Amino acid sequence: MESVPFLLAGRPARGADPLPVRHPYDAREVGRTSHADPEQVEAAVAAAAAVADRAAALPAHVRAAALDHVSRRLAERADEVARLVTAESGKPIRWARGEVARAVATFRWGAEEARRWSGEVQRLDTEPTGDGRIALVRRLPRGPVLGITPFNFPLNLVAHKVAPALAVGAPIVVKPAPATPLTALLLGELLAEVTEPDGPGTGLPAGMVSVLPLPNDRAAELVRDPRLPVVSFTGSGPVGAAIRRAVPEKHVTLELGGNAAAVVCADWASADDFDHAAHRIATFGNYQAGQSCIAVQRVFVHEWLLDGFLPRLVAAVAALRTGDPADEATDVGPLIDDAAARRVEEWVDEAVAAGATLALGGRREGTSYAPTVLTGVPAGCRVNTEEVFGPVLVVAPVPDDSAAFAAVNDSAYGLQAGIFTHDLRTAFTAYRTLRVGGVVVGDVPSYRADQMPYGGVKGSGVGREGVRSAMEDYTESRVMVLSGIEW
Ligand code: SIN
Repeated sequence: MESVPFLLAGRPARGADPLPVRHPYDAREVGRTSHADPEQVEAAVAAAAAVADRAAALPAHVRAAALDHVSRRLAERADEVARLVTAESGKPIRWARGEVARAVATFRWGAEEARRWSGEVQRLDTEPTGDGRIALVRRLPRGPVLGITPFNFPLNLVAHKVAPALAVGAPIVVKPAPATPLTALLLGELLAEVTEPDGPGTGLPAGMVSVLPLPNDRAAELVRDPRLPVVSFTGSGPVGAAIRRAVPEKHVTLELGGNAAAVVCADWASADDFDHAAHRIATFGNYQAGQSCIAVQRVFVHEWLLDGFLPRLVAAVAALRTGDPADEATDVGPLIDDAAARRVEEWVDEAVAAGATLALGGRREGTSYAPTVLTGVPAGCRVNTEEVFGPVLVVAPVPDDSAAFAAVNDSAYGLQAGIFTHDLRTAFTAYRTLRVGGVVVGDVPSYRADQMPYGGVKGSGVGREGVRSAMEDYTESRVMVLSGIEW
């Protein structure tokens, strides 16, 4: 199998150390690439630093055209890209198609925001000392960005680092997840198509983008490199915390995990309401085998609704089709690897040993774990307190809405929450009181539109993604005061 080249300063390159990529469902090799050698890493970082001033000065039309090109090419190659996502991540093909469609939109948004990115004029004559003065306020790149991306959205979470960087004119070095580098490299191929082949003025400067497969234990050297003043990391809490400790002087954005909750409020009580919530919670507790930071994990249901709701939820989960992720009918595929499936098994077994009841599931087969519903889980069990990142729902009754919101907040995390209510007052109470980055009313916490601010509080991270929010994160404001102006 030919080794797929990575992207080193806009050009294809290969390293000496091979990296085979295996399908999570059956362990067959689906492709191979190579790790970047230390000299290649150095070349990529040096090129990013060298090109930073030119990148920041690129006209908006050049940045927007590059982003539009990537969006268009992803759409043209959508089927191939989706199959690659499925092959390396084990994500069912229909979810992979959804991810590709989202990445098309993420790059399109990047192009649109690049055209809008203008800054503002501020009047200063609000005090006598400001007579005849105005301020021009623009946001300029902090410098080259290091983007470290996870396996669970191998395309769109790379897009969420690359598109905002290009939109503001910041070079970026991407380190994709070791399990899923191939989709990021395909994206690199599309970026190479808009990298200047014939010198300045014909596209993105060559040093502007690198996509370098590296083992995780070599990421620290990039994190510490002072030529990459912005680190944007999506991944696990402990790694995020280690990055923050390692480089307190850098601008670090962390999109970490969560144990997202859905609340079924007292007014969500008709048969149609139950069916809708059961279907959405079943689907989004188990999509990509629960491997999303906003997959539903904890479900709080009004106590007098529980007897009616639980059987519908269990039936909706039982109806999900498990199996080969390449099959168009499959809803739930494997976890990323054996260790992940064994960890989920251990946590569910721990809950059951502590007294929880298995309403459904609770079986592992290789890398696959059966969609599982637990009730009566004691508070301290890890399926409650930690991020399961697996197809597991923990259902608990609550006496009223305020107890439900307190239960949602009783977590080390705070990414998104879903509140099933028709009552606007309840919706606003949730929005005011929940300590999360986003509240979704009438649906699961798993809803995400790629242009909206996305990120968490507490153990779920710092900073926000969503194209415009990341553009703000990658830049800092600079003021120019003009004096002697009459306007
Ligand atoms: C994540 O797992 O944090 C990303 C969720 C999404 O983009 O839908």
